[in-house]
Amino acid sequence: MSRPALRRALKRAGLATQPKEPRCQGPRSRGVTPPPRVSLPGEAESGSHADLPTLFGREAPVEVEIGTGKGRFLFAEAQAHPERNYLGIEIEPDYVRIAQVKIARLGLSNLRIEWLDGREFVKLRLAPASVAAIHVYFSDPWPKMRHHKRRVFQPDFVAAAARALGEGGLFKAASDHEEYWKAITSLMDSCPALERLRPEEIAGWETGTDYEKKFLLAQKEIGKGIWRRR
Ligand SMILES: C[S@@+](CC[C@H](N)C(=O)[O-])C[C@H]1O[C@@H](n2cnc3c(N)ncnc32)[C@H](O)[C@@H]1O
Repeated sequence: MSRPALRRALKRAGLATQPKEPRCQGPRSRGVTPPPRVSLPGEAESGSHADLPTLFGREAPVEVEIGTGKGRFLFAEAQAHPERNYLGIEIEPDYVRIAQVKIARLGLSNLRIEWLDGREFVKLRLAPASVAAIHVYFSDPWPKMRHHKRRVFQPDFVAAAARALGEGGLFKAASDHEEYWKAITSLMDSCPALERLRPEEIAGWETGTDYEKKFLLAQKEIGKGIWRRR
């Protein structure tokens, strides 16, 4: 979403634009990078595994989406499957504020969308075999080589995500960026804990996200894959 569109969305949700957090003093290169956000609301400390049943107030299979954007996918899933819990993780706080207003308006008790760094949250906070599915759709490709380290998909992220999935759990991913999709599939395919579903098993599957809708309209090629925890 462009900045003006985001400002309009904030206004529609009855939210004020927040002033930017002040930068550290001195040249940017000497500023101190804040630690990644990995704590859920109400947590006293974030060193332990995330307590997902407490977050939702009940035990139920949990699905996690990283990079929810405007949340189209999760709102549809949470309404279609009230018996499951959905945790959306988004690094852009304004998207999160808008989504949280909508969750409250719809009274969705099985959906949380939180302002966190999804890559670090999966690596540091998800307990082994604690989630039923992980979704990462149209993750920012950071095309310049020197920015690849900012990508969500890294070997340690993939290993942690595989560990967090329960047996038979699914990791679902999509990208419109050819080179990033190659890197994603190479990382995922080389993870020994995961097996990729055959193309015929996922034929006709659509993620239902905003980006997918946009790319389908533009007839842009999309890479999509589902991996299952062995
Ligand atoms: C290209 S958008 C795709 C949004 C949505 N998944 C879709 O398909 O419509 C990527 C989203 O991922 C978010 N994002 C990027 N890095 C992230 C991270 N480390 N943790 C959580 N969200 C992240 C961005 O803020 C953005 O909303």
